[in-house]
Amino acid sequence: MLIKQGFQQFEDPLDKHELAGLALEDNIDSRVISRDKQNWQVSHGPFNDINQHCVGAWSLLVQKVDQFIPQADELMRTFSFIPYWRMTDLMVSFSNTDAGVGAHIDQYDVFIIQGKGSRRWQVGLPGEYGESLPHPELKQINSFSPVIDEILSAGDIIYIPPHHPHNGIALEDCMNYSVGFRAPSEQEMLTSFADYALEHNLFNQRYKDKSITPRAYPGEIKQQELSHFKHLLSSTLASSSFEQWLGKYLSETNRLSNNEVEEDEHYSEEEIVGLLADGVYFLREPGIKPIFIESQATDNTDFIFYIESQSFAVPLKGRDFVLNFLNSPAYSTELVETPKSCLFFTQLLTKLVNSGFWLPE
Ligand code: SIN
Ligand code: CO
Repeated sequence: MLIKQGFQQFEDPLDKHELAGLALEDNIDSRVISRDKQNWQVSHGPFNDINQHCVGAWSLLVQKVDQFIPQADELMRTFSFIPYWRMTDLMVSFSNTDAGVGAHIDQYDVFIIQGKGSRRWQVGLPGEYGESLPHPELKQINSFSPVIDEILSAGDIIYIPPHHPHNGIALEDCMNYSVGFRAPSEQEMLTSFADYALEHNLFNQRYKDKSITPRAYPGEIKQQELSHFKHLLSSTLASSSFEQWLGKYLSETNRLSNNEVEEDEHYSEEEIVGLLADGVYFLREPGIKPIFIESQATDNTDFIFYIESQSFAVPLKGRDFVLNFLNSPAYSTELVETPKSCLFFTQLLTKLVNSGFWLPE
């Protein structure tokens, strides 16, 4: 799907110099993909001298920019008609004339926003395509017939579903912003759930015989026994531990930006109360996207939410206030009236600040 002028008067949240600046940092995931005639190269950051890699037609691609640049975080949140737990990150690329990463297929949904400059985007339908590896890290496809073939300019958006071959070729220096959407695989989920169970020493039951019947062949597993095994495992999925794992799992972004406060410099609750009383603003760090599981009518437990695999609990009566707080980029007692008995809130804010998720200005 192509959305012409999805953003009117689009302004880039950063320029190529700032993008290159991010690629110098060693906690940031960046790469340069270049093509000089048919010679493809891939180099990974951090770059001391990025220019030596920028030969021929080249693109610099930087992941998780939403965690570092507040305006990039804001751009990504424009897409929050899709829930946070489905969002991965904002990848930003700069390409010079003729550059692109080649025709390829991704496993994820993506919205690509055209920033400065213009780029020709071709998108095809899922199918069987011949693959080539012009470089060990670049899986490309040989050719495809496009069903979309358009030149995008600043503010245009293209949505590419998974498995649709696509190719973007810059017509001049250009910036692109890719909002990616995670789709966990069964294997990833099983591995993570098993790790969680081991870490928390869960699910220690053993198989117990219900009634073991004689059989003609001792090698046989009876249908009833098969069901018993399935039941044993499915009951682990029905447990409340599964929900806790899911909240942790889906809130994990493997954050690269880390402002966690050193243990011996932790803010105390009294300090936070003091800062609040002074009208200090607390700013949500870029890229923070808290998630929670919808409560059921019968639920009478605390309101629990998850950030970066950490869980936070507050009394149910504070839910609406806390949800408002979590969804605002800045908080101060001047902006929002804090409920009278707000002990739970100062405790929460203290934890969030010490974890590096909110910072006092
Ligand atoms: C880009 O070059 O900005 C995006 C590449 C892609 O995934 O198609
Ligand atoms: Co792609």
